Amino acid sequence: MRAAVVEELGQAPRVTERADPQRTAGTTLVRITAASINPVDLHISSGGHPAGTPPVPHIPGVEGVGTVVESDSLAVGTRVRVSVPGGFVDGTLAEYVSAPDATCVPLPDALGDDLAAAIGIVGISALVALREEAGLRPGDSVLVLGATGGLGQALVHLARALGAGRVIAAGRNPQRLETLAEHADTLLLDSDPAEFAARLAKAGGPVDVVADLLWGPYASCALPSLLPDGRYVNLGQTAGAEAGIGAALLRHGHLKVTGFSGASLPPARATAAYREVAEFAAQGRLELAIDSYPLAEVGTAWAAQAASPGAKITLRP
Ligand SMILES: NC(=O)c1ccc[n+]([C@@H]2O[C@H](COP(=O)([O-])OP(=O)(O)OC[C@H]3O[C@@H](n4cnc5c(N)ncnc54)[C@H](OP(=O)(O)O)[C@@H]3O)[C@@H](O)[C@H]2O)c1
Repeated sequence: MRAAVVEELGQAPRVTERADPQRTAGTTLVRITAASINPVDLHISSGGHPAGTPPVPHIPGVEGVGTVVESDSLAVGTRVRVSVPGGFVDGTLAEYVSAPDATCVPLPDALGDDLAAAIGIVGISALVALREEAGLRPGDSVLVLGATGGLGQALVHLARALGAGRVIAAGRNPQRLETLAEHADTLLLDSDPAEFAARLAKAGGPVDVVADLLWGPYASCALPSLLPDGRYVNLGQTAGAEAGIGAALLRHGHLKVTGFSGASLPPARATAAYREVAEFAAQGRLELAIDSYPLAEVGTAWAAQAASPGAKITLRP
């Protein structure tokens, strides 16, 4: 089969011939029709991921969509979404993948392949972070810090789908923020995080929930924007690994600060969350900007992901 293969850690994959995966008991062989690239793929293939150093050569890709070729649990031809620990086993950026049966989710007919591939990691994490980690209740106000990427867009849409009252989308790119204006109030993060409070006041003021994938200086500025009993959930650190947080603020506001990684979810919970996310997407309640590339252009797609594309990237074998 043709597959995207990383031959040296830190280098982009290139397309080459590999042996077809062998299906083993408890796995399903799937012909991939669309696979998404996530920041975690670049992180794993750099060799710097806490899960460990992957072997080289390896096929990256932790999620994808395709049709069942051989399975003990699903009919041949069923359209499914699958996930695998790409990098550490053969991943989804290939013509075929062998995926654990427990991760194979049949797809609603109304959901296209690219969107079904794109919503997985970001949709599962956004849904669980908002509803279970931040305890989002209908009517709550939500600030999404870093709203212009794949995860941020999913957080904005799913906050709405879960019944949030006011949603504020914050990001540093005004053109990308504009595309979210139909679904959220917007807040431009300019180069001076200290301006944050004034801009937030204009965008609608304090909120019940902050969902943050930036951390760094923005976390220090955004924490005071929580209402009493507010919840702050961190999902990433694209703007910095460290943030100063005043203890008095936490005590007097009775604030809860948590972190969440979808990678820590057991497969059954991730699968259940994907089913919900897929239903939202099939109903048109979870939209993501998507840039789709042929598998042969994986090098270009990989570089686009590294540069923050403002969209989910999918590859079509
Ligand atoms: N915890 C979880 O379960 C989970 C799940 C999925 C992803 N993540 C993590 O969340 C982060 C975002 O993932 P993604 O898929 O949304 O990636 P993405 O599509 O590449 O988006 C990156 C986002 O970060 C913003 N950004 C990057 N550097 C920034 C900076 N210095 N200052 C302000 N904004 C900055 C980008 O803004 P621009 O649009 O302006 O470039 C964009 O909104 C990654 O670190 C990823 O590993 C975590």
